[in-house]
Amino acid sequence: MKVAIDGPAAAGKSTVAKNIAKQLSYVYIDTGAMYRALTLAARRQNVNVQDEQALAQLANDVTISFRYREEGQDVLLNGDDVSHAIRETDVTNHVSDVAKHPLVRQHLVAMQRELAEESNVVMDGRDIGTYVLPKADLKVFLIASVEERAERRHKENQEKGIESDLEQLKQDIKRRDQIDSEREMAPLIKADDAVEIDTTSLSIADVTHKILDLIRDVNETKGV
Ligand code: CDP
Ligand code: CDP
Repeated sequence: MKVAIDGPAAAGKSTVAKNIAKQLSYVYIDTGAMYRALTLAARRQNVNVQDEQALAQLANDVTISFRYREEGQDVLLNGDDVSHAIRETDVTNHVSDVAKHPLVRQHLVAMQRELAEESNVVMDGRDIGTYVLPKADLKVFLIASVEERAERRHKENQEKGIESDLEQLKQDIKRRDQIDSEREMAPLIKADDAVEIDTTSLSIADVTHKILDLIRDVNETKGV
């Protein structure tokens, strides 16, 4: 079973994908974390995020992997746990520039497809249903208003004690959505056969249940 969950920033993809993976014992693959880890490496090594060749070389040189634990998973860059560092604002504000380059995407997509072969997976990102796993058994496209999405990130920051400006967050999310939607290779777009769910006024539990129902329907159709 391959489940693809796509959508713009803070639509709830990773939270819901993790819930589903936990309930069904599927492997969760966070593709955004891979683009973020490469961006962190680029920022640390002063690689220009507009330099496609240098980024492709960097993608070859570094090792990005996941370490699965009972409570979740860690993201490793050259074996070091960078799970927190990849969420910092500097990475967030540069990741879409790194991710727009075809050579970068080719490299990471190859890794993602390999990871997806292993077992039942739920994979979240921007191009999973359209490009990474076009034959996924279920494709979900999550959306929510930009105001709601900025509010969610704001609340998350406040809970973590991170300084946060709601208006700035809204601008940053809009900018990232625009770069992700307008890039040439595998842009952020709903797959024709994806089920769209507007999560603006839905709780995490609501969205999780909706997707679990969809998975059950697919399994019934397949006779599983
Ligand atoms: O969690 P959040 O929505 O902030 O972002 P993410 O899922 O961690 O993804 C970070 C960035 O990586 C996105 O804004 C995209 O630029 C890029 N990305 C992508 O291009 N393709 C994917 N499959 C996943 C992420
Ligand atoms: O992965 P993505 O960027 O799409 O979003 P996320 O990191 O899963 O969710 C962003 C924030 O919104 C988290 O703090 C979630 O707890 C929250 N959220 C919510 O309040 N209501 C939802 N229906 C989904 C997520």
